[in-house]
Amino acid sequence: MKKFITILFFGLQTASAQHLLYIPDTLSGTSFDLTVHRDSVQFKPGTITQTLGINSHRYLGPTLLMRKGDSVQLAVHNHIGDTTTMHWHGLHVAPQNDGGPMSLIMDGLSWNPGFVVRNNAATYWYHPHIMAKTAAQAIKGDAGFIIVRDSMESTLTLPRTYGTDDIPIVVQSVELDSNNQFMPKGMVDSVVLVNGTDSPYVRMPAQVVRLRLLNGSGERTFNFGLKGNKTFYVIGNDGGLLQAPVTTTRIRLSPGERAEILADFGGMNGDTTYLMSYASELPIGVQGGPTMPMPPGSPLMNSPLNGIDFNILQILITAPTASPIYTVPATLVADTAYPASAANAYRTISMTADSALVMDGPFYFNGLSFDMSRIDYHIPLNNVEIWTLTDSTMVGHPFHIHDVHFYILDRNGVPPSDVEKGRKDVVLIAPYETVRFITKFNDFADTSIPYMFHCHILMHEDDGMMGQFVVGPFTDHTANLDPQPGIKLFPNPAHSELNISADAYHQNETVSVRVVNTTGQLNWEGYFSGSKTVSTSTWQPGIYLIYLTTTTGSSVTRILIQ
Ligand code: C2O
Ligand code: CU
Ligand code: CU
Repeated sequence: MKKFITILFFGLQTASAQHLLYIPDTLSGTSFDLTVHRDSVQFKPGTITQTLGINSHRYLGPTLLMRKGDSVQLAVHNHIGDTTTMHWHGLHVAPQNDGGPMSLIMDGLSWNPGFVVRNNAATYWYHPHIMAKTAAQAIKGDAGFIIVRDSMESTLTLPRTYGTDDIPIVVQSVELDSNNQFMPKGMVDSVVLVNGTDSPYVRMPAQVVRLRLLNGSGERTFNFGLKGNKTFYVIGNDGGLLQAPVTTTRIRLSPGERAEILADFGGMNGDTTYLMSYASELPIGVQGGPTMPMPPGSPLMNSPLNGIDFNILQILITAPTASPIYTVPATLVADTAYPASAANAYRTISMTADSALVMDGPFYFNGLSFDMSRIDYHIPLNNVEIWTLTDSTMVGHPFHIHDVHFYILDRNGVPPSDVEKGRKDVVLIAPYETVRFITKFNDFADTSIPYMFHCHILMHEDDGMMGQFVVGPFTDHTANLDPQPGIKLFPNPAHSELNISADAYHQNETVSVRVVNTTGQLNWEGYFSGSKTVSTSTWQPGIYLIYLTTTTGSSVTRILIQ
């Protein structure tokens, strides 16, 4: 008997090398509550790994299910022992709701953005966006999916039973130190987590299954495919469904990019397959691709995963569900790119470094590092713009822009592949490549809070590979569709005093004011109703963020003290 138990025990241990894929639970409706907290997970034998979790999750957070057209309210409660923010990656919202580096949430406090969901059905995500610390926080697990549904998508015959035939898959390659702790700036990432599961397997029914792929890594690009080059169908990318499914055997996703694919497992009950990365096919210089010849003195970047084809997720195919889908639709949604002839403004960004041999940064846009007090572009509302992005460095950069989705016009003059033809918010630019995209800056104008554009390699972003733009000026108040309290701050820039005054509607309310500097330290706080003059003569010159909270909401404004 004892012997039998020992054998059983060892049997279980062998089996436990593979772990059942974790599927985050969902939140739906119109109000979403997220509590970000410190936690820990036993990823590897030995020391437990310190993580950040959201709500009941010890790592990552719940999937937010939103419906286009709904007016949603969110609450983000910060219990991580440090200042943070929360950004809704890919959602088209006003800048004060976007969760960029200005929308700081102090430890122990909450942030309450609200907006109308204007995005098309697709897969988006949320993660912190705090200056210089995005990698440290996001890599520890502070991130989750947002799935938007809409009436167009609902009419299509597509798998949409969450966790059964519609499966969220966030892939993150991470580096753990010898003590099993995350190394957010590490470049030798060798652990691949899928939904926070190490060495995962999942059961999928023998029918058409939808996978929502998100590359949530700090730096690594994946070249996804199914084992044995089985074909699959790409139905959507960052910002919506494509016009028609694209039959392929590969989908390359750099950090921040998403794709929805359909895999046809019909008739395969009992088979085993794998979601893989065919990283041997990535270009040299794209992180995760074959290791390039290293210039002397370069940092260690030889992850064992670079340039090889490896398994990401084992898929055990099981019996079909009660109402399976066996077909792939012939067409999806109507979606047309803005024609290049519609553009009324052009911008050129060159991605640069201190020298041609720099592999680990810092990297710059047009030679400039991020500066919170510098607005790189003032973009008139409703501009249609073509941006030309050239990577002049030896490593690839996934370029991401907030607020809008864009259409890729060409890569080195060649029109994009069919899967890249839809609405995008991240595009990978390979070394020495030039990509042009077209977009329209519609709906939101606000000249006080900027939107960001940056490299989505989180360590590049944290090192300053980021810029900011404002859309405006206000030509018309209907341009700002999301609610915000009617509080004015003036003058801006201010010298010795700052006046704060509430509009007629908020005259009788108590308004709470918190003034913090750009690193999140509290400079001044107080309350007023009606109006108030604050002496600023003892404040250090620089940029401050003013957080105002009334009974109807909160807002943040940026002021300069000279
Ligand atoms: Cu996913 Cu500016 O971020
Ligand atoms: Cu974003
Ligand atoms: Cu970069």
